Amino acid sequence: MKKLVAYFSAEGTTAGIAKAFAEDTGSDLFEIRPEKPYSAQDIRWTNPLARCNREKFAGAEVPVAGTVEGWDRYDTVVLGFPIWYYGAPNVVRTFCSGYDWTGKNVVLFATSGGSGIGKTAEKLKPYLKGNPKILAAEVIRSAEELGRLARQADAEGAGQGT
Ligand SMILES: Cc1cc2nc3c(=O)[nH]c(=O)nc-3n(C[C@H](O)[C@H](O)[C@H](O)COP(=O)(O)O)c2cc1C
Repeated sequence: MKKLVAYFSAEGTTAGIAKAFAEDTGSDLFEIRPEKPYSAQDIRWTNPLARCNREKFAGAEVPVAGTVEGWDRYDTVVLGFPIWYYGAPNVVRTFCSGYDWTGKNVVLFATSGGSGIGKTAEKLKPYLKGNPKILAAEVIRSAEELGRLARQADAEGAGQGT
């Protein structure tokens, strides 16, 4: 069973957790980077004209730099991102649209300033071609919490397979 940890992080919190978890579990890591990186001004959501607000309200696609090599080797994708506007950032949706998720198990995790995961998983589903199993979706605060979430998901995934 090979896991891929794919993550987007604008300010480093999600990145720290994703990297520590990947190292702990020997998983491969892919950073979802927008082709045009976000500057500090770009993500200043208190400014109505900031890039993040313009993209959000336009429902814009945000092109991703690079692609995951050997996508078919992974049976589980652990997908992490910060909660933006109570959901997944547009760049994560663009990333999801670029792959065939048939047969994959998905563990969603997010970091946030206080919001829960809400309807984030349901809202991502249309971008996950092939109807993968979303085994877990939670806001977490540490690599340990992500470890617990992933172990629960593994157990559930194994249960569904028998
Ligand atoms: C554009 C933008 C929108 C955000 N929207 C929310 C939100 O709706 N709810 C929330 O709790 N935090 C929100 N946050 C805070 C981030 O989710 C939080 O700081 C997160 O841990 C950042 O992760 P990162 O360091 O990996 O980018 C927002 C941050 C930004 C930049």
